[in-house]
Amino acid sequence: MNEADIQVLATIRRTEVEGESSDRTTIESHAEKYWKYLEDWSDSWTRLVDTGFIAGDDSGYKLTESGRPLAEKFYAERPDYFWYYYQHYYPAAQASKAHSELCVRVYGRNLTQEGQADMDSLNDLIAYLEIRKDDRVLDLGCGAGGISEYIADETGAHVTGLDYAKSAIDVAMNRTEGKRDRLTFVEGDMNALEFPKHCFDQVISLDTIYWVADVDQALASIVRLIKPGGKFGIFITNSPLTDDGPGACEPRGTWIAQSLKRLGLDFEAHDYTENFLLFWPKMKEVVMDLYDDFVAEGNEVIFDSFMLDADGDYLPAAAAGKLRRYLYIVNVSVS
Ligand SMILES: C[S@@+](CC[C@H](N)C(=O)[O-])C[C@H]1O[C@@H](n2cnc3c(N)ncnc32)[C@H](O)[C@@H]1O
Repeated sequence: MNEADIQVLATIRRTEVEGESSDRTTIESHAEKYWKYLEDWSDSWTRLVDTGFIAGDDSGYKLTESGRPLAEKFYAERPDYFWYYYQHYYPAAQASKAHSELCVRVYGRNLTQEGQADMDSLNDLIAYLEIRKDDRVLDLGCGAGGISEYIADETGAHVTGLDYAKSAIDVAMNRTEGKRDRLTFVEGDMNALEFPKHCFDQVISLDTIYWVADVDQALASIVRLIKPGGKFGIFITNSPLTDDGPGACEPRGTWIAQSLKRLGLDFEAHDYTENFLLFWPKMKEVVMDLYDDFVAEGNEVIFDSFMLDADGDYLPAAAAGKLRRYLYIVNVSVS
């Protein structure tokens, strides 16, 4: 099946999930979610009807028995441009001189980062989680694994990095071939973790929890993997531009904090907002400075993506006084 048909099936499933009408115009209104990775859908409608994966016409399409499992799979796997973006991003970023310079200037060191945790934040996280030699750590959404590798090198812990972008896992595995005794990487989905109960001392999620499908379910399944007495560290940026209700920006009022409370988990929140307000202006300045280098390398999409984040989300939120960054440390009970 070609990528256009996959996008159409995933989007039909999206309209179902969101309770929308299933006419072609409504389905096509979601096309922008694929950003630069949008395929040409014009031939997919007849092809998918002919192959029996969907039924109906432009006034309303529905998934057939054979189309439904595929649509559910594709929607879970690649509901929007992020999956496509990360598949492209990590191999390109790992090989990019401009990206390496960006990481040094913005984060303080090149670990092929894609999130918002600079080196001070990362070192704080290691300290709060008390990661020690031989601990077993899971890094959720590890990307190309530079952060996992840094933690393993600094602490002597055994780190497993997990990411849904296969290309990122390949990059990480190749780069760390000589460190397999304490560093490994697996392709997997944060929403469907397949590790045994209590097999990690610490789990970390650095700017990845945004992608969980059901926050309560995901947090509960992550905590289940942690040994009693272990810890879970979550870095998030909260930037609600819409009114998310009173207290949504407060450390114990964000959507993550509310979920942790619902699950009855013991946690502390550390506020990184003050330093972080400088992060996105700095990112924008450095990215613009490196524009010519990104273009010369053929990596303009990396430039575009950072600019999209800066201008479309974080800087407007900062201007509206709604940009907050927190580190949540969840203490998994010993009983
Ligand atoms: C903003 S990046 C952060 C990467 C890294 N933790 C860092 O701080 O540089 C988000 C990462 O989460 C991964 N990701 C997104 N959704 C995922 C999912 N459902 N399962 C596993 N990884 C996912 C992406 O591929 C990407 O590597």
